[in-house]
Amino acid sequence: MNAVQSDALVFFGATGDLAKKQIFPALYGMVEHNELHVPVIGVAFSQWSLTDLKKRAVESVKAARPDADKATLDTLLSLLSYVDGDYANPSTFTALKKALGDAQHPTHYLAIPPSMFGTVVQGLKAVKLTKGARVVVEKPFGRDLASAQALNRVISRAFPEEAVFRIDHYLGKEEIMNLLYFRFANSFLEPVWNRNYIESVQITAAEAFGVEGRGAFYESAGALRDVLENHLFQILALLAMEAPAYRGYAAVQQAKTAVFKAMRPLTKDDIVRGQFEGYRDEAGVDPTSDVETFAAVRVFVDSWRWADVPFYLRAGKELPMTAHEIFVSFKRPPQALFEDAVSRHHHPNYLRIRLQPDSVIALGARVKTPGEEFVGDKKELVVRTEHPAERPPYERLLTDALAGDRALYSSEESVEAAWTVVEPVLEDHHRAIPYVAGTWGPEEANDLLLGDDTWRVPTLKEN
Ligand code: BG6
Repeated sequence: MNAVQSDALVFFGATGDLAKKQIFPALYGMVEHNELHVPVIGVAFSQWSLTDLKKRAVESVKAARPDADKATLDTLLSLLSYVDGDYANPSTFTALKKALGDAQHPTHYLAIPPSMFGTVVQGLKAVKLTKGARVVVEKPFGRDLASAQALNRVISRAFPEEAVFRIDHYLGKEEIMNLLYFRFANSFLEPVWNRNYIESVQITAAEAFGVEGRGAFYESAGALRDVLENHLFQILALLAMEAPAYRGYAAVQQAKTAVFKAMRPLTKDDIVRGQFEGYRDEAGVDPTSDVETFAAVRVFVDSWRWADVPFYLRAGKELPMTAHEIFVSFKRPPQALFEDAVSRHHHPNYLRIRLQPDSVIALGARVKTPGEEFVGDKKELVVRTEHPAERPPYERLLTDALAGDRALYSSEESVEAAWTVVEPVLEDHHRAIPYVAGTWGPEEANDLLLGDDTWRVPTLKEN
């Protein structure tokens, strides 16, 4: 059954940071690709006028797209209108209803702090703007399991589950979609993709910058809630999931949810939290803050396929580089036929998948060096994927939401299952350990690694 195409896009948080950095450029891209033909109504409580919002839209598009052309930009501006008002005030929603005119199937996008989701949903419901509509909810979806469940209850009183689109923009990235494709469009991986052959899996999401003016937001989130529990868990789920039982969105959702459900809830000693020195001086940050800007965890997926295989995940700000990489270490050959190939610190075989800043899949293998001796070298078989026409994730995701396509969105069940894994350590944890900006976080993160494993520094360039 084809879903109904939305006939308006409402976005709350129109004057905010996300709108500036991501949403206006995405809307521009949608116009450019002939995917946006409906009115776009920005909503915020900033005492702005439509002129201010248009000015912001132009600045934001030009910053992201120096090649922006005037005609496309003018089309975007012609679609734009604006409602200013307090989300707690019913008159804001009356004004929105008026601005929506006879639209029957609006998509409401909540690009606002999670603490406001409930208020806005209730406001929409009170003026019957939820009927026939969809809602797109930004991450983090709740602050913990209880608040996610409460939010799901509020939302489900106003929208049926099929109208709820929980965004994790990582799912709209080419490199992340490729994980699903790479795993299940090939047959060679499956026989070795399990505890019999895989020693450990690492996922690193490093950012060389700090909180960039988002101190107040960060204080309510921290690295665990901001990146690790959602973006990195999604990557983990794609790596660890079973093959979807049939084609289609629901099967992928089920398979991913099963991974979250099989993950062993974290204990205090499975996580190391760090805070870069200087964070407490940021605007909006408590000078005694214990919020982490770095989090590393060791987690197990207690499934038939993955029992006892550690998954190590780390995410942080002010690290030495901006790069996301997956490193899957395979077990050593069972016998040391060649002395040089199996020394303790070699990982003779691994699969390295770089997701950012560019997309690379590399298979590490040892290859004999020409000559009499049976000695060799580590080599990589490298696939580099170029994405000349890659669409930014928000462009893809908002286009899908307007079309009612939920394939790249998360279900209530999977969101709650993911929170369940981190729930025990959200409040009950060791203090964040200071680290110097430009380093790989606190040394204590090494203690999470079992055996002789070491954290892999993402490779930025292949030899
Ligand atoms: C966001 C986080 O969800 O993801 C940010 O709030 C983080 O803190 C960002 O920097 C990373 O996303 P991307 O697409 O820039 O890798």
